[in-house]
Amino acid sequence: MAQFRLPANSKIKPGKAFKAAADAKSVRTFRIYRFDPETGENPRVDTYEVDMAACGPMVLDALIKIKNEVDPTLTFRRSCREGICGSCAMNIDGLNTLACTKACEDVRGDVKIYPLPHMPVVKDLVPDLTNFYAQYASVKPWLQTRTPAPPDRERLQSKEDQEKIDRPSACILCACCSTSCPSYWWNSDRYLGPAALLAAYRWIIDTRDEATGERLDALEDPFKLYRCHTIMNCTEACPKDLNPARAIAEIKKLIAERRH
Ligand code: SF4
Ligand code: SF4
Ligand code: FES
Repeated sequence: MAQFRLPANSKIKPGKAFKAAADAKSVRTFRIYRFDPETGENPRVDTYEVDMAACGPMVLDALIKIKNEVDPTLTFRRSCREGICGSCAMNIDGLNTLACTKACEDVRGDVKIYPLPHMPVVKDLVPDLTNFYAQYASVKPWLQTRTPAPPDRERLQSKEDQEKIDRPSACILCACCSTSCPSYWWNSDRYLGPAALLAAYRWIIDTRDEATGERLDALEDPFKLYRCHTIMNCTEACPKDLNPARAIAEIKKLIAERRH
């Protein structure tokens, strides 16, 4: 395996190296981005050798082991450990994904771990998702109605109508899609990005919602929606196998149809 080297002009400094114990049986090397904006120092990449014989199989298991046993300063988000909360999203081996569902054995060579791309970094592997969440909130991801609810039951919908929103509702807001989208990288101040647009779509097609026109009006904007150029990175990246690119295309179609 070729030695990992940073280019001479890289602003990422070579970092600290932590060796595995001499009796380690099955060593893997993890190269992890480190950055603390409060120190004013440039980012660096630290290297950690982990004995996989004493570690769980997922990348998150290795990160937790490193934090617990080697370097408590390493900072990352996680909660559910089973692909539900979306908080452990990061860039592993060049792809945005969830650390808790990414098996170490699916990565060849050293395991390179960076925060989600093109986001401000709070610390190490923790991106600042303030704008991402504000964009999600901006699509009003809740049921909007004008007519009163039936007095004796919930607002019902058919099984077929429920199935249309079933998959888009499975989004865990991990941001893997938006942070893999080149259009979002360059215009995240004005382009809503695939995650927020998938959420918008989920409510646009909900047969119980009564604000469809207003929802489409709000998206008919050269930046909010039309910065999507169907590059498809978003769908490729989604760890829940959702298809935000298709949802965006469907929204464009609905807007085009109502013009005629
Ligand atoms: S399909 Fe649209 S949202 Fe998805 S990556 Fe491409 S430009 Fe971004
Ligand atoms: S669509 Fe997929 S990648 Fe995007 S935020 Fe939702 S779960 Fe994550
Ligand atoms: S820890 Fe919740 S999705 Fe990974």
